[in-house]
Amino acid sequence: MGKTEEIRDRLIKEIEGAADVAALEALRVKALGKKGQVTALLKTLGDLSVDQRRRTGPKINALKEAVTNAIQERQAALEIEALASRLLEERVDVTLPSRPRPRGRIHPISQVTDEISEIFADLGFSVAEGSDIEDDFHNFTALNIPPEHPARQMHDTFYLSPDEAGQRKLLRTHTSPVQIRTMRSQKPPIRIIVPGRTYRSDSDATHTPMFHQLEGLVIDQETHMGHLKGCLEDFVRAFFEIDEIKMRFRPSYFPFTEPSAELDIGCSFEDGQLKIGGDQDWLEILGCGMVHRRVLEMCDLDPERYQGFAFGCGIDRLAMLKYGMTDLRAFFDSDLRWLRHYGFLPLDIPTLAGGLSR
Ligand code: DAH
Repeated sequence: MGKTEEIRDRLIKEIEGAADVAALEALRVKALGKKGQVTALLKTLGDLSVDQRRRTGPKINALKEAVTNAIQERQAALEIEALASRLLEERVDVTLPSRPRPRGRIHPISQVTDEISEIFADLGFSVAEGSDIEDDFHNFTALNIPPEHPARQMHDTFYLSPDEAGQRKLLRTHTSPVQIRTMRSQKPPIRIIVPGRTYRSDSDATHTPMFHQLEGLVIDQETHMGHLKGCLEDFVRAFFEIDEIKMRFRPSYFPFTEPSAELDIGCSFEDGQLKIGGDQDWLEILGCGMVHRRVLEMCDLDPERYQGFAFGCGIDRLAMLKYGMTDLRAFFDSDLRWLRHYGFLPLDIPTLAGGLSR
């Protein structure tokens, strides 16, 4: 066997035994690199006579070709091996769900509160809060409900035990005391809504001892019934997500507003199901009116200079009407099956642009 055949056989044996891509690369450099064995042989051709070159040249070129082919083959084989072992190692569990679904649900009351806040924020209102425990002055007297006023009997108030001063605090029977607290601590113009917990000693399918109200208050220098009407009509349309909805303001009485009204919306019944926005019947949804001048006076505001309007409604009732629940008590049962059915997905945050309820 000649010298070139010897080199070829040895190199090819080594190439076929290369364990990985790095070892193969080292062999390629050793044979075909600048200082490689085959390259060195090729360089010797220049010093040979024409005759010698004619004999040796083809042999060396054949050697180069054989080595190059062997490297390519080994390279391909190593790639297939690498893929096979990756496929063996990396496993995908196709039974896993593609995206975990959130399991918690937003309670309809929180959802509806967020929807209402979103609508009124767009109308320029901010959210105010008070405390659940109130005193007689803010819950009644300052709202033009003096002691012995018959309206006090309608509120079924929960009273706390008397404190050292003999004063009996109470659980607020409505969110209206926050009107007083705001007017006494802020200068007009005022535009607030007050969503919050309220308490009355009452319990049946449509009453629970704790429930939720929404209060609204606007005080400025040129506010009138037209503003009240426009504002509440905008709210009702946005909240029920219906453009055509019949509404009527019916005269009413509240001690803290004059004149006072109740807002009714049109509804109908289809297959025994209540449908908002029809014209068969009326549903009462909120109380409202122009803030009584005596209330303004009790908040040290000059009624000759300032007026405004107020409104109040039950958040739970709004939620029941919009989402078709019939028993208020279920709201407070913490029954997971009920929550999964009526609850909302945590990331479906209500926005006016993206849709309130989806
Ligand atoms: N506070 C009243 C209630 O609990 C609701 C209400 C009616 C509030 C008229 C208002 C209003 O601000 O103007 O029954």
